[in-house]
This record gives sequence, structure tokens and C-alpha cells, in this order.
Amino acid sequence: MVEFRKVTQKKDIDLIASMAEIIWHEHYTPIIGKEQVLYMLKKFQSSESMMDQIKNGYSYVLIRHDEKDIGYLAYEQRKNSIFLSKIYLLKESRGKGFGKRAMDYVFEKAGELNCVSVQLTVNRFNKGSIQAYENSGFEKRGELVQDIGNGFVMDDYFMEKSV
Ligand SMILES: CC(C)(COP(=O)(O)OP(=O)(O)OC[C@H]1O[C@@H](n2cnc3c(N)ncnc32)[C@H](O)[C@@H]1OP(=O)(O)O)[C@@H](O)C(=O)NCCC(=O)NCCS
Repeated sequence: MVEFRKVTQKKDIDLIASMAEIIWHEHYTPIIGKEQVLYMLKKFQSSESMMDQIKNGYSYVLIRHDEKDIGYLAYEQRKNSIFLSKIYLLKESRGKGFGKRAMDYVFEKAGELNCVSVQLTVNRFNKGSIQAYENSGFEKRGELVQDIGNGFVMDDYFMEKSV
């Protein structure tokens, strides 16, 4: 059984930070390189930065299957849309339909919040994930290059799905 648990406590956020370390190094090093992975982990996925994001309106959700933590997602409401900021599964839990379930969970949240769409950004070279988003009904709406400091940029597609 897949469960989604919204978390706010430091001990759960520490757990997400440790999953982020594993997932980001493994998945993003070939895409953006080790230096940018280290920089982005510290800036966006340290426990401290996630606690700040939660204070500023982000929801972090642990994804569990058969009582094991298999990944996490994060979103925030932006006007009448949900911005899906993070959705990450441990490698051994990918390709089994859990990502699709997680996206359905987000679409459900969007409905509860009377939002009209779910939006996200995804690295232009993160091909498998782009495919997964397209299979869940997201469409590319444009490209977005964001300066994140220290000489690094996020080179993304902006994607959206109406709900
Ligand atoms: C992206 C991610 C959340 C998708 O979750 P998942 O559980 O692997 O995907 P699912 O098994 O639910 O597959 C959903 C659909 O996408 C397709 N898909 C998933 N991963 C794919 C891949 N790497 N390549 C091609 N298609 C893929 C599946 O075939 C499936 O298609 P279907 O709807 O026609 O059956 C997960 O793979 C992941 O965590 N990836 C690494 C981290 C990442 O890049 N996250 C996104 C950051 S923006």
C-alpha cells in the first residue's frame, strides 16, 4: 500500500534530507555535475532550508510503501495553481507506478484547493522524468533558465497540466 504523509517535524525533514542526498547524487550528477549537486542540496534540500520553505508555505510529503520510506514530494500553492516543486523516489522504487500515484495525489490536492492547474519545472536533460510527466498529462509550456547563484543555472522546461 502506498501512503502519503505530510510532514512538518524536524525528524521527518531530516529523513527527507538524507533521502535527497542519496537521490540527488545518484540521479543528478550525470546531468548537472557534482559541484552543482552539492550546491543545490545545501541551498534547497538541507533540513534548515526545508524547514524555512515549510514556514513559507511549502508542503513536504513523505511517500511510503509497505511501511518503507521510498521518496518524497513538495508543493506550494501559487495563486490558483499548485507548483510541484519536488518529486523524488529512491532508485529501487522507480518504474513501478509509484510516481504516477504520487502525481495523482498532487492532482487531488490541487482539486481540494480549488486550483486549476499543476505546474512544475524539470531539467531539460532529465529525459526519463519528462517522459513520466508527459505520461501523467503534463505539457511543455516553455523553457526557463534561472540563475541560482555561484555561477550555476537551472536549465529547465516549464510544464503544466490542467486539473
Ligand atoms: C520521475 C519519477 C518521480 C517518476 O516516478 P516512477 O515511479 O518512476 O514512474 P511510474 O512508474 O509511475 O511511471 C509513470 C509513467 O512514466 C513512464 N516513465 C517513468 N519513468 C520513465 C523513464 N525513466 N523513462 C521513460 N518513461 C518513464 C512509465 O513508463 C509510465 O508510463 P505509463 O503511464 O504509460 O505506464 C521517478 O522516476 C523519479 O524519482 N526519478 C528520479 C528523480 C527525478 O528526476 N525526479 C523529478 C525531478 S523534476
